[in-house]
Formats: sequence, C-alpha cells, structure tokens
Amino acid sequence: MDRRSFLQYSSMAALATAMPRAVIASSHAAKRVDMTARAGKAHIVGPDFPATDIWGFNGQVPGSPIRLTLGETIEAHVHNKLKVPTAVHWHGIRLPNAMDGVAGLTQAAIEPDDSFVYRFTPPDAGTYWYHSHLNAYEQVGRGLYGPLIIDELEPPRVDRDLVWMIDDWRLLEDASISNDFGAGHDRSHAGRIGNVPTVNGRFKDIVKVRSGERIRLRLINASNARNFALSFGDLVPSIIAVDGQPVTPHVQTGPVVVGAAGRVDLVIDMTGDPGSSMPVTDSFYRESFDLVKWVYEASPMRESLLDTPIALAPATIPEPDISSVDPLNIVIAGGAMGGLRRARLDGQWMGLREIAQQGYVWAINDTVGNRLDMPPLLDVARHESVRFVFDNQTAFPHPMHLHGHHMKLLAINGEELSEPRWVDSPLLMPNSTMELAFVADNPGDWLFHCHALEHHAAGLGALVRVRS
Ligand code: C2O
Ligand code: CU
Repeated sequence: MDRRSFLQYSSMAALATAMPRAVIASSHAAKRVDMTARAGKAHIVGPDFPATDIWGFNGQVPGSPIRLTLGETIEAHVHNKLKVPTAVHWHGIRLPNAMDGVAGLTQAAIEPDDSFVYRFTPPDAGTYWYHSHLNAYEQVGRGLYGPLIIDELEPPRVDRDLVWMIDDWRLLEDASISNDFGAGHDRSHAGRIGNVPTVNGRFKDIVKVRSGERIRLRLINASNARNFALSFGDLVPSIIAVDGQPVTPHVQTGPVVVGAAGRVDLVIDMTGDPGSSMPVTDSFYRESFDLVKWVYEASPMRESLLDTPIALAPATIPEPDISSVDPLNIVIAGGAMGGLRRARLDGQWMGLREIAQQGYVWAINDTVGNRLDMPPLLDVARHESVRFVFDNQTAFPHPMHLHGHHMKLLAINGEELSEPRWVDSPLLMPNSTMELAFVADNPGDWLFHCHALEHHAAGLGALVRVRS
C-alpha cells in the first residue's frame, strides 16, 4: 500500500473507533469500486484501422459504468498508473467539497503510482458521469471518463436501460489521437471539435432493437466541446430528465440538444418495422451526420406499445426563494469575434493582446479565470438563495457548469420557462441570457466554469464560495 492511501486508512480507522455502531455498519455497506487510470487501446474506428492509444479508467473508454441505487454509498479507489497526475470529478453529484475531485482546489492531485479514495452517498437519482479534472482538456480528450448512474428506488418500467456516452475525437489518418490539445484556435473559437463522433467509444455504431421495445436512453455528452442536437427520425422520444433531474415527461419536437457535459434521459418506443433501420442524426453545426444507427430485428417484441407511466419521482433539491434576492449578472466575454478589449489577469488590468500572449482569451465579469486561488466571483453564507443572470456576449455557445449544486433554470432570453428545470451544465447560446437560481447549501469553494474544456483552460472559469 502506498503512503497516501495508508494514511487515509489509518485516519479512517481512528475515526471509526470513535463513531457510533450504526455509522460503522453503514461504512461496511459502501460499494467498493477500483478504478485504475492508465493507458490502453480502443478500437474506435473499426477493424480497418489500428487501435487507438487512449487513456482510460481500467484502460477502457468509456470507463466501466458505475451504478448505484439511491441511498447507496460509493467508495471509489482511484489508482493512478498514468505518467502524469490526475484526479476524478463526479459530474453533477451534490457531494461534500473534499470529494469533488478538482485537483488544486478540493484535493491534491493523485500523483503517478499513488491512490485516492473517494467516498460519498449521492443524494439524487439520475444520470451523471465521472471524468478527470486535471488538465481535463487533454485527459478527458484522451478518454478519462465514464458513466455514473444512480438508479431510482422505483424506476419506470422499460424493456432496456441504455447509456450512450457520446464523445468526439480528433483522430489522424492512422487512427491515433491528434496531440494538439489546447491548440490556440480551439481555445479562442468553438473548443476542440473533432472528426470522429462516437457512442460508447465506437464510430458509426449499430444498436439492435426490436419493434415495440421501450428503451430508456441516457445520453451523456463527454465531448471536450462538441454539442449535439440529435434527431430520431420517425421515433417520438419523451424527455424524462435533464442533467440527471426529473422533468415532467414531454414529447420532444425538434432535435434533442445535449451540450458538452450535459445529460438527457429519454423514453423511446421503437416503432419501426421489423427488419428496418434508422439513423440517429446530429445537426448542431452546419453539417449533419449519422451518429449511430438502430437496426430492428426480424421479430417484433410486442404488437401494441407499453402504456405504463414514465414519470420519475420529483427532485428533492431545496427550492430557492428569490423574492428578495437581487440577481448577480455574470457577463461572459472574449474569444474570437468577441468585443473584449481589456480584463483583469492576476488582479492586473491588461489589454486583450497581452492577455492572449499568456494563452487566455475569455473573462467572466472582466476577470480571467486562470487560477484556483483567485478571489471568488460570489461569496455567500450557507443556505442563502442565489440568483444568476448569465449574459453570453461572445460568438460561441458555452455549457456553464457549477460544481456541488444544481441550479434552477428559470428563463432564457428574458422569457420564463413554462416548467423551470434543474440543471448543472446549461448550454448558454451566443448573444443569449439565462436566469437561474439555487440554494447555496453545500459549503466549500466550488468551481464554476465553461465545460468546453479549452475555454476553461483559456480563462472561462470562476469560484463560488459557500461559507459554512
Ligand atoms: Cu465536468 Cu469542472 O467539470
Ligand atoms: Cu465556453
């Protein structure tokens, strides 16, 4: 056993002796998962090409799905067998700050050959994911991520529960990963947009289905920066959850948008004819393409569709009270074709050219978010309600992620949503605003950043401090 994990064990043991019996018992009930971050190979583009060298949890991409039932505790032993330090963030989970996995903020990086034990009890069911949170624009881009599913105590009846972890790779002709992580153009434009979109690590995958089958489809966008707008042809998907949290089931007309880091849960009745096939098509950017294809087996599963309820139990996140709270305006500026002229970098006002020479091109409220020890954008007492207005004054979309909390999305471009919904990574479109509110009930210093990972690396980040 290496030194750090030994120290953790010994301090845990010391704690355990001082704890009442019930706590000790529940500590034995934790589900142990071992995850080794290491190099591996993946057949991303099929048998005609060599396997791609990736970094993955247990050498795979995506890393194996972690599945818990609501109320279960996880104890994840992360072992680093990479040549570089890493850390694991549990995206969308409202967990204690010390378990959040942001190297340099909530923990020290896990050094090569070292280990770290994450232990927490997710408070909400739903679709989440885990990923590296150190030099994420490279480590996530090389494959260090996987699905994290918290099952409801009484999930709706479906025939199959599918997870589609969507990614977007930039591969060279020999199927190796292009090494230009954090390239200047990606930082100042749309982020690293690749040339090989995959579902569960496979390009142009085929998914066998049966006519009449009811599928719960969990979409998780693990791309560095690519956003998706998926069309399902003749199928009529119902959205039942967004960013892990339940919404009133509603039929989606038009494409299902999943921004980088976002999740959408759908229920789909497979209404195609036996023997037929149908692609799922993306159209977020100018050119559309087939992401994956459903292929129906020859025999139907059932003649008339299931008619059982698909609604999930409502979220149990505290409701903000915004009646007497002033909104905090959060202006996002910079990037190519943006109007940013000057901003503060390390506390100093500078012109954009000077800032760009240091690799930064974005600012939140005129401040470049280049450090984890910078003064917080927001400093609130625990249990206070917070109101945000995001104002995107740039030419690019930004999936804005707040750690440790879910925010209620109330309005887009000044127009109130008919059903406000909980989000952790809302996609803020160019020249748009979003109004959100939440209860700052989770103490600690939390990262708030754009999940286009190159944008974050280029300064699109800030801290939110919740005092205990
Ligand atoms: Cu998905 Cu800062 O994280
Ligand atoms: Cu961004």
